[in-house]
Amino acid sequence: MKTYLSLAIASLCVVSLNAKQPEAWFDNAVDHAKTQLIATAHSISVNGQFPRSVKSDYSLEQLSTQMECAPADFKPEVELLIHPSPSEYRTTHFCNYSDWTSGFFPGSLWLAYQLTDETELQEQAKRFTNMLLPVSKMTDTHDLGFMAGCSYGNALRLAPSDSIKSVLVETASNLAGRFDPAIGCIRSWDFGPWNFPVIIDNMMNLDLLYKATELTGDKRYADVATTHALTTLKYHFRADKSCFHVVSYNADGTVECRQTFQGKNDDSSWARGQGWALYGYTETYRNTGRKEFLDHAVAVAEMIISKNQTDDLVPLWDFDAVKDASTPRDASAAAVIASGLIDLSKQVKNGKKYFAYAEKILKSLASDRYLAEKGTNNGFVLMHSTGSLPHGSEIDTPLNYADYYFLEALCRYKDCLSTI
Ligand code: GLY
Repeated sequence: MKTYLSLAIASLCVVSLNAKQPEAWFDNAVDHAKTQLIATAHSISVNGQFPRSVKSDYSLEQLSTQMECAPADFKPEVELLIHPSPSEYRTTHFCNYSDWTSGFFPGSLWLAYQLTDETELQEQAKRFTNMLLPVSKMTDTHDLGFMAGCSYGNALRLAPSDSIKSVLVETASNLAGRFDPAIGCIRSWDFGPWNFPVIIDNMMNLDLLYKATELTGDKRYADVATTHALTTLKYHFRADKSCFHVVSYNADGTVECRQTFQGKNDDSSWARGQGWALYGYTETYRNTGRKEFLDHAVAVAEMIISKNQTDDLVPLWDFDAVKDASTPRDASAAAVIASGLIDLSKQVKNGKKYFAYAEKILKSLASDRYLAEKGTNNGFVLMHSTGSLPHGSEIDTPLNYADYYFLEALCRYKDCLSTI
């Protein structure tokens, strides 16, 4: 017995002695993130406010060039966001709990805490997560997985409690309530001209349902998630494995239309949407073990690698955008892709190539080109993301979800290094 024990201890030591340590670029990025996030948390005294982005300007000419249409023809179909007035440029855009991005700032605080063990980050993470309690009562959006998963989901991992479990299960019940069995999908949006819109982003909300099954033993949450993923796999993807942004269904489950909302055009490959697909199917494979999801995630990864042609692997806002030095990048898409690829690298035999690709992205994001100087960038970690170019909204600006997925990718990267 004693011999077995010493052998086990010896092999553990070999593993830890061999474990690779993160390099300077990694430590520098974590240090910047920690400083920015703590300063931002301290600067917010109003209860219920979450930093979302920095208000950016645009010109009609810039947008119509990007959309490859005449300025007079440039008309977003749904006027979602208001163009900020000049006095507001470069001010922080705050949101409240009901915004789809509300969970990302608390989530970033949790991930930075995971990376640093800094008590201050944990305290701030708890403070901002608790402000999101009303999310558990919301029924009018599919974004509940982003909102509760990134905040309470990380809280459950890093500081578990029964009350966190209840919030997650109640939120998951409300998300599952948006599922239509005749269509086989969860409804994404309650606004707009569509009968039953489902966007590719919705793949990111499924993890909350698998978590609810794990916490309650009730299989119905997972069944909803798996059916949604199967329907999306069937109708959202093109022959080259790129995806449409929006697919709307008729009541009988037939397709009403396939369109874009945030991409360049209906047939283009909006960069973050491709990232959501990669990340979502990799995660759904992890939650189900179903091979068709892994095969699909690999095919989407290959498509992204072939379409992403920038020098530093940080995508243009749409893979089919004009290839021009002034075309906005999307650091948020880069971060989502990096995090998804590291996850994928652990699920497949030839995972090294996905890990190496993700590492290149992370090194770019950790460089001066994207990583903000401490005390700048309105307290956000990364620069140069694009929210919705066709709406003139959040173009070439920091976004809270770029920071979140960057930090998550760093956590995943560090975990992988420790097992090499
Ligand atoms: N889920 C909305 C977006 O990716 O912009």
